[in-house]
Amino acid sequence: MTNTTTNAKRGLARGLTDYGDPDFALYLRRSFARSMGYSAEMLSRPVIGIAYTASGFNNCHRQFPELLDAVKRGVTAAGGLPLDFPTVSLGEVYLSPTSLKYRNLMSIDTEEMIRAQPMDAVVLMGGCDKTVPAQLMGAASAGRPAIQLVAGPMMTGRHRGERLGACTDCRRFWARYRAGELESREIEQVEGQLAVTAGTCAVMGTASTMACIAEALGMMVPGTAAIPAVHADRLRAAEATGAAAVGLVGSKLTPARIITQDAVENALRVLLALGGSTNAIIHLAAIAGRLGLPLSLDRLNALSDETPVLANLKPVGPHYMEDFHAAGGLGAVLRELKPFLHLDCETVTGETLGERIAAADPYVDRNVIASRDDPYEPQGGLIALFGSLAPRGAILKRSAADVRLFEREARAVVFGSLEDLSRRIDDPDLDVGPDDALILQNAGPHSAAAMPEAGYLPIPRKLASKGVKDMIRISDARMSGTAYGTVVLHVTPDAAGGGPLGLVRTGDRIRLSVAERRLDLMVEEGELARRRDEAALAAAPAQPARGYAKLYAREILDADEGCDFAFLRP
Ligand code: FES
Repeated sequence: MTNTTTNAKRGLARGLTDYGDPDFALYLRRSFARSMGYSAEMLSRPVIGIAYTASGFNNCHRQFPELLDAVKRGVTAAGGLPLDFPTVSLGEVYLSPTSLKYRNLMSIDTEEMIRAQPMDAVVLMGGCDKTVPAQLMGAASAGRPAIQLVAGPMMTGRHRGERLGACTDCRRFWARYRAGELESREIEQVEGQLAVTAGTCAVMGTASTMACIAEALGMMVPGTAAIPAVHADRLRAAEATGAAAVGLVGSKLTPARIITQDAVENALRVLLALGGSTNAIIHLAAIAGRLGLPLSLDRLNALSDETPVLANLKPVGPHYMEDFHAAGGLGAVLRELKPFLHLDCETVTGETLGERIAAADPYVDRNVIASRDDPYEPQGGLIALFGSLAPRGAILKRSAADVRLFEREARAVVFGSLEDLSRRIDDPDLDVGPDDALILQNAGPHSAAAMPEAGYLPIPRKLASKGVKDMIRISDARMSGTAYGTVVLHVTPDAAGGGPLGLVRTGDRIRLSVAERRLDLMVEEGELARRRDEAALAAAPAQPARGYAKLYAREILDADEGCDFAFLRP
């Protein structure tokens, strides 16, 4: 009976199915596992689960079958048994109303399948925007040793001699098409050149930002965040990740030990130095929140004031992720940030962050990654704004904004919903001028729209055709990490959750001050109280009656709490 004893609660002997007889449960499990053709020797090995997210609805993960083979090779060579399992996959552009709505569903799936199945450690294979945060949230809650592997970024395409990459260039060409500068034939040609290989968006958008954050947190094999998806090094990274996962078996290096308050602060520094995506603030708050760690927007501002922008990547600069990787990648950025970082943070390989930095290749291309003494910007790319319009904060990506709009009082032009926006934004009779502030309401986490990436409001066609390229735009929505402009996002509390954003009316005065970190609605409190009473009398929107939508409506938290579900936080 030695092969059926449960004394080593490892590998397949973990978490047995409950039949009231543990030895029988293990015997049964092994006999079923043998049906897959594994030898007894393989079945006695520690088990490495692989959360596998290939999907016909996720172009960014389309090389995952090959990547999975490489992970399995690494696990097997290091003495483990690799067992992949499917979870929810989220392809950014295929989900309605928005992928964010389903991030928490994916995190629940990931958490429960890690916990319920017999694995000693898990490799998280993600990449597209919401997948990496969902996996890190789930793994943090599951509490088992975990290591992240990402798809890696796409290579760029070409159009008439110009390099193109999803999706900053998608927006640039679409804005030109809207302004009448491009024929429909050319926009069709561009459509075929924006996303030309497997992998995640080719710029420092949300996916690449989250990949770098996962590495900065210590949850990834060093040097692997930015390797292009189709590069042979990506397969070697997958193999190394599989081997590193075996190294985690029996270790106490769970996500809770790696993702500490200091590690979260390191990740914020990296986010700021990269001029990374605004979405990352939400995701990092959600990941940290799973471990009971707060993410303070005041602290973000303090770090932003003293963290230089070091990367010169789209959507802020001219370069793409493949250039970033060739220029030294995240290792070079971490080396420049060294005086600002908590170097004693542990990482999945067992090294401290300081040791990881010391071991990195010293090469750097200064055209892409600046030194801290001569940065692209002396201060971080993201800031939080507070004020009567955003009592719990709002986010501005100042590195992607027009500095001429930073200190402004503007007239509000209000759109009550996304439907209202699409109906009226291009109306030739819309009363709007280039100095106005466009306001979008009811696009936050509590709205039926579930906080889409709609904060990058289009410039009204009648202004765009006159050459207006940027305006102040304010909403409770998010913005794609690949977008740019003077766009104030994540206004919290959101309009649908009862925040003051819902009380703004066309003609109100709005004051934005980047210097003072302020965002104010210049309306008397008496008038706001009258509007609040009026809003209370209006019929409440219908709530979902069943299923995940009902769970979402009941449990969703605001942006400052990462848009997590209340019941998933500790
Ligand atoms: Fe998947 Fe951009 S659509 S990363």
